[in-house]
Amino acid sequence: MTTPARGSLLGIEHLETKEILRLLQLARRMNPQKARPLLRGKRIVLLFYEASTRTRTSFEFAAKALGATTTLVLSSGSSIEKGESIIDTGNTLRAVGADCIVMRHPAAGAPHFMAKHLDIPIVNAGDGMHEHPSQALLDAVTILKHKKSLKGLQATIIGDIFHSRVARSACHLLTRMGVKMTLCGPPELVPDVAATLMPGLRLTRHIEEALRGTDVIMLLRVQSERLAGLKIQLQDYIARYQMTAARLKLAKRDAIVMHPGPIIRGLELTAEVADCPQSVIVDEVRNGVPTRMAILARALGRA
Ligand code: NCD
Repeated sequence: MTTPARGSLLGIEHLETKEILRLLQLARRMNPQKARPLLRGKRIVLLFYEASTRTRTSFEFAAKALGATTTLVLSSGSSIEKGESIIDTGNTLRAVGADCIVMRHPAAGAPHFMAKHLDIPIVNAGDGMHEHPSQALLDAVTILKHKKSLKGLQATIIGDIFHSRVARSACHLLTRMGVKMTLCGPPELVPDVAATLMPGLRLTRHIEEALRGTDVIMLLRVQSERLAGLKIQLQDYIARYQMTAARLKLAKRDAIVMHPGPIIRGLELTAEVADCPQSVIVDEVRNGVPTRMAILARALGRA
């Protein structure tokens, strides 16, 4: 095998725009409470080499809502702990009858590597600092529930953009859909080159400037597990970049506040902002289920 199986979803960057639009449309039609069993008899493995709450449970509920059987394989407690390679684990899962693997891994490119070797669709549930395509799609679905269209919107991403696969996938998707994006954070977390990586990105170090006139605010957790020795002065970070109720007033009055989770109250945002009426953080989690239903239905050729 060299090319990924049809239906694989490895990232947003190389996904055709018409496929993105098709997935968004499908996600908006999916209803977890009233779903047809499109995937009855299908076996989906959730293969997680990294911690997850939202992504894992929503992929599982999405699969089950469509009638599929799921099994969870975590790196701890499986043969991965004994040193089994990615490909050997993949071949094992294929041999027991997996029809699709949803995979999260700390190394960028791990799902792509798996997809090159297996003849079943692989869905990337987050690979290192690279991509998190299902999160970008569910975020677009969430924005579209609050705004008429993506085109012409202004979105601002604040925080640890460098280590964030969520930010990378969101930038690919939203710039492609005509959203003007502003990136904001300190140089350690948002290097100067960030804004040059895609057309349509703007960078500022000043949160006030980043927020002025924005329609969508996307906050990110400081990914302490990926800092690799880099020291962040948290008090300084909080003083300059924490989203507070006062700062939120600088954005458009109907701006929405997003965060992929897990949120750390008191760090990248105050509890007041997390729970304010403009916050759609819980909504994003909810929209994860229909969005992942669409991804799995497409993966297995039922959409
Ligand atoms: C994120 C992730 O794992 O990439 N969470 C998620 O999937 N919703 C972001 C994070 O861990 O901060």
